[in-house]
Amino acid sequence: MSNVHLVDHPLVQHKLTLMRRKEASTNSFRRLLNEISMLMAYEVTRDMPMQDIEIETPLETMNAKVIDGKKVVLVSILRAGTGILDGMLSVVPGARVGHIGLYRDPKTLTAVEYYFKMPGEMGERDCIVVDPMLATGNSAVAAVERLKELNPKSIKFVCLLTCPEGIKTFQTAHPDVPIYTAAIDRELNSHGYILPGLGDAGDRIFGTK
Ligand code: URA
Repeated sequence: MSNVHLVDHPLVQHKLTLMRRKEASTNSFRRLLNEISMLMAYEVTRDMPMQDIEIETPLETMNAKVIDGKKVVLVSILRAGTGILDGMLSVVPGARVGHIGLYRDPKTLTAVEYYFKMPGEMGERDCIVVDPMLATGNSAVAAVERLKELNPKSIKFVCLLTCPEGIKTFQTAHPDVPIYTAAIDRELNSHGYILPGLGDAGDRIFGTK
């Protein structure tokens, strides 16, 4: 599948399996998502532009590498995106943060926007949109569509789990946006849940069920 990056590192896969288990407590689900998100951040930022700056070590002057350009923006799709955002911020602490509030209409499964807040100077920033589940793809498509109105330098999408239906919907709308995921599951059920999946990510992160 082109433009889909499967993060199949053993640490990610092991932690994902622990998260999928129905016995996983809210505490361990949240902690594991946090840990996986740090590892996903490592993958998704791999091609960030670098520049050399002159620094002084205790022994001599050298040219050393730092990340170039304006601070990256992590865009969290509320509410479950918060689970990935926290982990990513712990390894990219200087990132700016945007929020997009979308809920799934339970009847039509389409995305309805209720909140949108981004940092300034978006035209000079790389964006990483985060949401644990790319299921129907409707929220992700709507979020990226809205983000594109601000003309960011680049957009990547990071999720924990997806399925063929979600990938197809997303890539049909946004073939230019790469997807980073830890797994591609079998299918979507008629209620818009991924199978075998891990259930409702928001409820499991926040303990609301
Ligand atoms: N959202 C979830 O939280 N889980 C799914 O399986 C699909 C969408």
